[in-house]
Amino acid sequence: MIRLFGHILTSLGSKVLIALSGLALAGFVVFHMLGNLQVFQGPDALNSYAALLRDMPIALWTVRLTLLAIVAAHIAFSVRLAIDNHRARPVDYVTHRYRRASLASRTMALTGSLLVLFIVFHLVHLTAGWLDPSLHNRLDVRGHRDVFGNVVHAFQNPVLVVIYLAAQAALGLHLSHALSASFQSLGMEHPMLDRLFRGAGPLIAILVVVGNTAIVLAIAFGLVHA
Ligand code: HEM
Repeated sequence: MIRLFGHILTSLGSKVLIALSGLALAGFVVFHMLGNLQVFQGPDALNSYAALLRDMPIALWTVRLTLLAIVAAHIAFSVRLAIDNHRARPVDYVTHRYRRASLASRTMALTGSLLVLFIVFHLVHLTAGWLDPSLHNRLDVRGHRDVFGNVVHAFQNPVLVVIYLAAQAALGLHLSHALSASFQSLGMEHPMLDRLFRGAGPLIAILVVVGNTAIVLAIAFGLVHA
């Protein structure tokens, strides 16, 4: 047990935990985007889907609390690894040589921090409905919470459109590097697997960003409306 904790506290252990927690969060993001695409099928589909999730309170809260614990672990181990890496560097580089590092890998801390801010804002906005409580509690004709109406109302506001699109840029950059790096941290270093996963990260990131952006822009341009 003590050995296991010792291993977790090493940077290799931290990398594995960051990779595993990151993959779980990426899984949620893909699943969430696929669920949200039901906005294109109209109010019935999206509101019934949201009601289905809310009708299983034990499962819903188990998933919510698990996600929260995973996010907390992901942030804690990432900060720890960044501090360890910084300490391990004998002198600060005077000039930064970024020739081989991609934009995504250089901006992981920035995009990760922006995503945390976005998630807090997003929960306040669409899950808690604190920006407009009267709208949040509105029901549709079937008596379900009108999640479709909330989402459509949100993206008719240009400020919210900009916030959500900016979040997609941060999400895309973070995911594209994180997924490929996770597979490497998990020791999948075979040349063929390496090539596959290097391509899979950006591909999944693009699909998620395109899916989410399509929702925001389709509403902003009136293709989907209440
Ligand atoms: C255009 C993009 C997005 C749309 C339209 C959207 C829509 C929604 C909606 C409508 C809810 C509330 C569901 C309900 O009240 O039943 C929600 C909850 C949530 N969203 Fe998003 N979302 C988007 C992007 C994201 C992203 C990028 C993340 C994470 C990085 C995220 C994380 C969450 C979380 C954690 C919840 C709380 C789930 C729960 O209720 O337990 N969302 N989203």
